[in-house]
This record gives sequence, structure tokens and C-alpha cells, in this order.
Amino acid sequence: MQNATYNHTESTATVSEHPPKRKVGTNLFLCPMPVTIVGTMNGTRPNYVSAGWVTRVNTTPPMLGVAIAKSRITPVSILDEQAFSVNYPNHDLLVETDYCGLVSATTKDKSLLFDSFYGELENVPMIANCPMNAECVLVEMIDLPTDYLFIGEIVAAYSSDEYFRNGVPDVRKVNPILLTMPDNSYWTLGEYAGKAWSLAQGYKGRA
Ligand SMILES: Cc1cc2nc3c(=O)[nH]c(=O)nc-3n(C[C@H](O)[C@H](O)[C@H](O)COP(=O)(O)O)c2cc1C
Repeated sequence: MQNATYNHTESTATVSEHPPKRKVGTNLFLCPMPVTIVGTMNGTRPNYVSAGWVTRVNTTPPMLGVAIAKSRITPVSILDEQAFSVNYPNHDLLVETDYCGLVSATTKDKSLLFDSFYGELENVPMIANCPMNAECVLVEMIDLPTDYLFIGEIVAAYSSDEYFRNGVPDVRKVNPILLTMPDNSYWTLGEYAGKAWSLAQGYKGRA
């Protein structure tokens, strides 16, 4: 295995201060990932599929990107309806969430696992039991070798007062499910670490 070499002449750090780097393969995942459940209409029935490869992708208008493997039934549903939902489950729904990632709508009807509700888009089912939901219209699909990256504009988002503090979602109340790969493990949230866009004020770096 090839070792990396250090070449940052500006730095005061020396190589001996760092553990040796080695290549670890390219099948890298950013950990942890939030676990979501993507909702679509599969014909006349809601279908729900677990998805960890989800991220916010645009500021204005707000958009979400979801990578779904071409082998799933969900891409067919998204393209049929030109829309999908992203539901944010908590640990109360851990078993149902795992089930939605184990089982395909091609073999099992997943529509009755949850109480579904509909928002502005009448063809996009959302999960009432989840603390947060977003309904999205499809704006772009990027065709990658094994997956599609679906980019959806958030038309509306939903939650309940019980998950809010001072007007914003409180992540401790939401209690999201976190995922690590490739060890395929679920986690809970860790400790508060500081205020973002704030704690580095006054920091001078190494100069
Ligand atoms: C925790 C978890 C996260 C997953 N994330 C994704 C994902 O981001 N993209 C994907 O294509 N499949 C993902 N899967 C696998 C799909 O959820 C699974 O293949 C599902 O059965 C597909 O359902 P469908 O055929 O009804 O669309 C995940 C599975 C689990 C358990």
C-alpha cells in the first residue's frame, strides 16, 4: 500500500507529528449520514424507501439531492410522478426504517407501514409519524453509472411544535437516525460541540 508524502513548506508542523497516511480505497462514505425515507407513488399506492445518500444542494430555491440506485423501483416512480418526498424518521421508527431499506415494493406493499398524508402536491405521499417531511418537485435528474441523482425543489416542509425550540427544529427533540457505511450501523446524535459560523471569530490560524 502506497504511503502519502507531506509537502507543506509553509507549515510549522513536521511529518513526525502526524500518524502515517496510507491509501484506504476509494469506496469512501462521509459519516455519519442522516437516514431519510423517500416517498413516492408506486401506481396508486404510496411507496417508501430508506435513503442515506441525501443532501441539501441549493440555497434559493431550496433543493434536496437524493441518490437512488437504478436497480430500485423508486426511480421509476419519481420519473412517473416528477416528484418525491423526503421524510426524516426518528429512533421510534428505527425498525420500520430498516425494513424500508431491506424490502422492495416489487415484492412487498410498504404503503401501510405508516400513516400517509398529502400536502400541496397531491401525488406525493409523506409519513405522518416522521418528525419532519419535505415534498419536492423534480427539477433535474443526473444519470450516473449505477445511480440517479434526483434533485428536487422543496415545495413545502412540515413538522410539529413538539420538535421545535425558539422557532427552529431542535435536533435533540427530532432524535434523527444516523448511518455509517461501510459498517452499516445506526447511531444516535452525539454531544453539542459549539456554535457554527461563530466559534472561529477572532481565530488567527497558524500565521
Ligand atoms: C439505512 C439504509 C439507507 C439506504 N440508503 C439508500 C440510498 O441512499 N440510495 C439507494 O438507492 N438505496 C438505499 N438503500 C437501499 C434501499 O432502501 C433498498 O434497496 C429498498 O429496498 C429499495 O426499495 P424500492 O425497490 O421499493 O425502491 C438504503 C437502505 C438502508 C437500510
